[in-house]
Amino acid sequence: MKIAVVGLGYVGLSNAVLLAQHHSVVALDVNAQRVAAVNRRECPIEDDQMQQFLAQKPLDLQATTDAALAYQGARFVVVATPTNYDSVTKPV
Ligand SMILES: NC(=O)c1ccc[n+]([C@@H]2O[C@H](COP(=O)([O-])OP(=O)(O)OC[C@H]3O[C@@H](n4cnc5c(N)ncnc54)[C@H](O)[C@@H]3O)[C@@H](O)[C@H]2O)c1
Repeated sequence: MKIAVVGLGYVGLSNAVLLAQHHSVVALDVNAQRVAAVNRRECPIEDDQMQQFLAQKPLDLQATTDAALAYQGARFVVVATPTNYDSVTKPV
């Protein structure tokens, strides 16, 4: 089953790596450097365990900046992009 994950930050990357152990995952990000790092199986964030998984686990994981490639045929889309939080209308 193909799953698209949008956002390769702390939430998106960990979900993508876990899901890619059992499913075909295409991860989409606007940051081309993050995409390239994941495709080299290097962790773009500070996370030792994630680095270990990327380097050692057999993962069906491809990263891209191409939205069409990510979404085409995807059964599920996991969105893990920054929240557009408005501190004026929704104060803490
Ligand atoms: N990190 C946490 O512990 C945590 C906990 C609860 C909720 N959240 C929520 O989860 C979401 C993701 O958090 P995070 O910590 O992973 O963020 P992050 O900043 O680590 O990563 C976000 C990623 O999304 C990418 N991105 C931004 N806009 C994009 C777009 N339009 N299309 C594709 N990619 C895009 C960025 O390049 C970045 O790689 C946020 O909404 C956050 O509020 C995070």
